[in-house]
Amino acid sequence: MVLDALQMIKAEEDSTLCFMRSCGEGVCGSCSMNIDGTNTVACLRPIDANTTKPTIVTPLPHMFVMKDLVVDLTNFYNQYKFVEPWLKAKKPPPDGLEYRQSPEERKKLDGLYECILCACCSASCPAYWWNPEEFLGPATLLQAYRWISDM
Ligand code: FES
Repeated sequence: MVLDALQMIKAEEDSTLCFMRSCGEGVCGSCSMNIDGTNTVACLRPIDANTTKPTIVTPLPHMFVMKDLVVDLTNFYNQYKFVEPWLKAKKPPPDGLEYRQSPEERKKLDGLYECILCACCSASCPAYWWNPEEFLGPATLLQAYRWISDM
């Protein structure tokens, strides 16, 4: 994976190279970057077997770069916090213990809960580029909808 190549470069070529990583499994979203023109997580992006051309790795576009491949996601996380991404029940559970969910209710969350908050979609969104202070961006809106749907 491209993340493995970056780790090798850091270990053997340039220890100052700065990038984020944690899980290495596409779960945490911390290794998001732009690889050959696509925003993606480096730990799930195979290294291109075609070595006749270089692989171009850059930070997520339209984000403030802190160093090398690390961008400042403060605004992104503040927007996520702003939507209060948790369940807000209007009444206590009928049995006083837990909220039960039917298979049909659970199915409504498919496609909503999988977001790992890597910010790749928001960093790809022209509306977010132009107005990141006001527009929450696709990732945060998806998260808000996920919790609104879970009623
Ligand atoms: Fe966690 Fe890549 S290191 S998603």
